[in-house]
Amino acid sequence: MEILNRIEDYLSNDFYSSDFFQLYSFTTENINGYMQFFELKDKTLLTIGSSSDQAINATLVRCNDITVCDICPLTKYFYYLKLASLLVLNREEFLGFLCKKQCDIESNKHLLSRTIFNRVKNALKSLDYESYYIWEYLFMNYKKSDIEKLFRRDINDLESIIYCNRYLKNDYNYNHARETVMNASIDFITEDITKLYTNKSFDNIWLSNVANYLNSQDINSMIKNCSRMLNDNGKMLLCYFWNTSMTIKGFPIEQLSSFESERIKIPGILKDKSKNSILVYTKK
Ligand SMILES: C[S@@+](CC[C@H](N)C(=O)[O-])C[C@H]1O[C@@H](n2cnc3c(N)ncnc32)[C@H](O)[C@@H]1O
Repeated sequence: MEILNRIEDYLSNDFYSSDFFQLYSFTTENINGYMQFFELKDKTLLTIGSSSDQAINATLVRCNDITVCDICPLTKYFYYLKLASLLVLNREEFLGFLCKKQCDIESNKHLLSRTIFNRVKNALKSLDYESYYIWEYLFMNYKKSDIEKLFRRDINDLESIIYCNRYLKNDYNYNHARETVMNASIDFITEDITKLYTNKSFDNIWLSNVANYLNSQDINSMIKNCSRMLNDNGKMLLCYFWNTSMTIKGFPIEQLSSFESERIKIPGILKDKSKNSILVYTKK
C-alpha cells in the first residue's frame, strides 16, 4: 500500500518535515464560533482541515453532504480512526486517546494507546478496511511515540479544543454526533486546494487559514477555483484569522474588493480572550 510506504519513510526519517504530511488531531479554529454564519442544513460543504473537525461539527446541524479536501494524505485515514473512536469510546476516553495536549506523551497512558486502539479497531474495520489496515499495522509495529510523529503539536489546550468543537461540548452533543456523522456522506480528496478540480459545486466552502501559506498567485488561483465551485448565494470562508487585525500575508484584503466580502468577528479560542475573525465571501 503506497500510503503505508510513505508513512514508514516518514517515520524512519528522524526529523519533522515542514511539508504537509502531518495531521492536526483537533481543529485550531473556533468552528463553533463561526458555523452559525453559514447556512448548512441540507446544504453542501467543501472544507479543508486534516482534523476533520469541520466536517463532524457541520453534521450536527444536518449538513449531510461534505467533501474534505486537504493536502495532507493521512486525512481520510485519521478521520476513520476518529469516527471509530467516537462510536466506541465515551467523550473522556475519546479525548484521552486522541488529544496530545492532555498531558505530556510519556505520562498520558491513554494517548494513542494500543489497548484503547484494540477496543476501537473492530468498528474501524467495518467503517473503512484500508484505514483499519494502516492503523493496525502502525499500532502493531511502532511505539506510540513514533505514531505521535504523524501529528502536529497541538496548539490549543484541552479546554480550548472542547470550546471550538460543538460535538465535544457535552455528552449530549457527543452522543448526538455519533448519529449525525453516520447519516452524512463525507468524501475525501487529497489535493492542493489551488489545483482542485471537481465537477461538484458547493453551497459553502471553508478554506481554513490556507491563504496564509500561499503566494499571491496561488491565492488568486484558489479564490478563482473555489468561486467557480461555489453555488450562487453560496458562502466561502476565505481565511480564518486568530485576531481581528491580521490580514492575508502579502495579500491585502483590499485586493479582494471585487468580491462582496465581509470580515466577521467571532469569539477567540478560550486560551487567549482576544477575538478571532473570518473573511467571508458571498457569491451573488
Ligand atoms: C493551519 S491548518 C489548520 C488546521 C485546521 N484548523 C484543522 O482543523 O485541521 C491548515 C490545514 O490546511 C491544510 N493545507 C495547507 N495548505 C493546503 C493546500 N494548499 N491545499 C489543501 N490543504 C492545505 C493543512 O494540511 C491543514 O490541515
